[in-house]
Amino acid sequence: MTSAISRHFASDNYAGICPEAFAAMTEANHGHEVGYGDDTWTAKAADLLREVFETPCEVFFVFNGTSANSLSLASLCQSYHSILCHEMAHVEGSECGAPEFFANGTKVLLLNGPDGKIDPKSIERAVNKRADIHYPKPRALSLTQATEVGTVYAPEELGVLADAAHRFQLRIQMDGARFANAVAGLHVTPKEITWQAGVDVLCFGGTKNGLAVGEAVVFFNRELAKEFDYRCKQGGQLASKMRFLSAPWVGMLRDGAWLRHATHSNAMAKRLEAAIRPLPNIHISYPVESNAVFAHIPEKVVEALHARGWKFYTQVGGWDESRLMCSWDTTPEDVDAFARDMKELSDEGPLKAR
Ligand SMILES: Cc1ncc(COP(=O)(O)O)c(C=O)c1O
Repeated sequence: MTSAISRHFASDNYAGICPEAFAAMTEANHGHEVGYGDDTWTAKAADLLREVFETPCEVFFVFNGTSANSLSLASLCQSYHSILCHEMAHVEGSECGAPEFFANGTKVLLLNGPDGKIDPKSIERAVNKRADIHYPKPRALSLTQATEVGTVYAPEELGVLADAAHRFQLRIQMDGARFANAVAGLHVTPKEITWQAGVDVLCFGGTKNGLAVGEAVVFFNRELAKEFDYRCKQGGQLASKMRFLSAPWVGMLRDGAWLRHATHSNAMAKRLEAAIRPLPNIHISYPVESNAVFAHIPEKVVEALHARGWKFYTQVGGWDESRLMCSWDTTPEDVDAFARDMKELSDEGPLKAR
């Protein structure tokens, strides 16, 4: 059956390009500009990021989140070091070993904690587990904000983690593939959950927020940005026509579209949660604090929703849950239609196929 459903809940990567990013890309498509990042759009985008973060940070634009994470982590570590991250982290389970590869063998060590967030005590346990020369020396802490399960670290939680990290001379990298959603969800300024909270380098996600492609690597600790341009080039991440990677950032940042879109996708997740939480046999797995709703949904209901044409992931990363992800272009009508179908299918009685 061909589905008439045009927007899904599978991933914020399923969404198209938002109008602000598209318009800026069109504006940038005039005449000639210097290549490899020495153009006016890239300078403007970097300046806008410095305004957003209210600090003179160093900024680099790369193609995707895997390279942003891997290259930034590589810039914090030597090959004999280790990176500590949550066991659910994208850098551990969804980057095909790229952080270890780009850092020349740096080992990723896993921490735990409820709701996708690192328990600060697990940092101490990992660092103190061994102190001998045979153990890869912990050097970096990687935090995901918003987390893989859509929860967020409040500034106070980041403060506790930063204290633990600094006690052991760990540098802090933040995987912010959904950083905008975290800022929107927490109602904070970007600086409060980055450099003021001890973050050395942030991978600020643009793709899931409405860009066609691209993430910004933002170094608050500017010493660590030394020669990062070479690392990008070697890693295949230096865009020759850089203006088309950076201009969409200008479109997103100049009038606050980045935060507007994140606020909207978060609101859609809240609407979805409110609609499906009361349904029989549906259990919401984590607090809904950004643009994702994770839920235990009976297999038969999942199958019937899929049969009706709805796309969403199940058993994401091996967890026994379905993930319902909202995007910048998710509408209230999309949410209501999905929730209506779910209600119909999860009410008692035989499951009907359409
Ligand atoms: C938490 C997190 N980090 C990073 C990424 C970026 O990955 P990609 O290399 O696909 O852009 C993703 C994308 O799914 C993600 O969910």
